Amino acid sequence: MYCEVVSNSPQIAWDELRERAREATHHSYAPYSHVRVGAAGLTSDGLVVVGSNVENASYGLTLCAECSLVSDLARSGGGRLVAVAIVAGDGQPLAPCGRCRQLLFEFGGSSLAVDAGVGHAPTTLGELLPGAFGPDDLDERRT
Ligand code: THU
Repeated sequence: MYCEVVSNSPQIAWDELRERAREATHHSYAPYSHVRVGAAGLTSDGLVVVGSNVENASYGLTLCAECSLVSDLARSGGGRLVAVAIVAGDGQPLAPCGRCRQLLFEFGGSSLAVDAGVGHAPTTLGELLPGAFGPDDLDERRT
């Protein structure tokens, strides 16, 4: 079980989610940086989606693990993310890069619970990406 709702507050099974992320590091393709990254996300339907980083000889085209995760989310039927754990090959949590904070915002919004790196308790995406631009802004700003 990855999530149990206690007093209207979701209790995320972070150890289990991090373990799924750690497993995903084994599918990482990181011949350039040698930083293997895996990500695991829990959906509001209780599904777990995963991703691994995929690097490229043209360095800037590298796909982060979270990018693979949102692709897996779409592939497996979509839905909303409620928690995401990101882990490096050393087994420790990794803070999501700026671009990936935006990618995750699309599918989890500011309430998404996110691991925030070594020495940091999980926090919300709203804390990691305050004032984010998102789908609602598009709806409001079309002319
Ligand atoms: N990386 C991720 O997969 N996610 C992040 O949020 C930060 C960085 C990957 C990209 C690259 O393959 C390696 O870590 C080193 O930057």
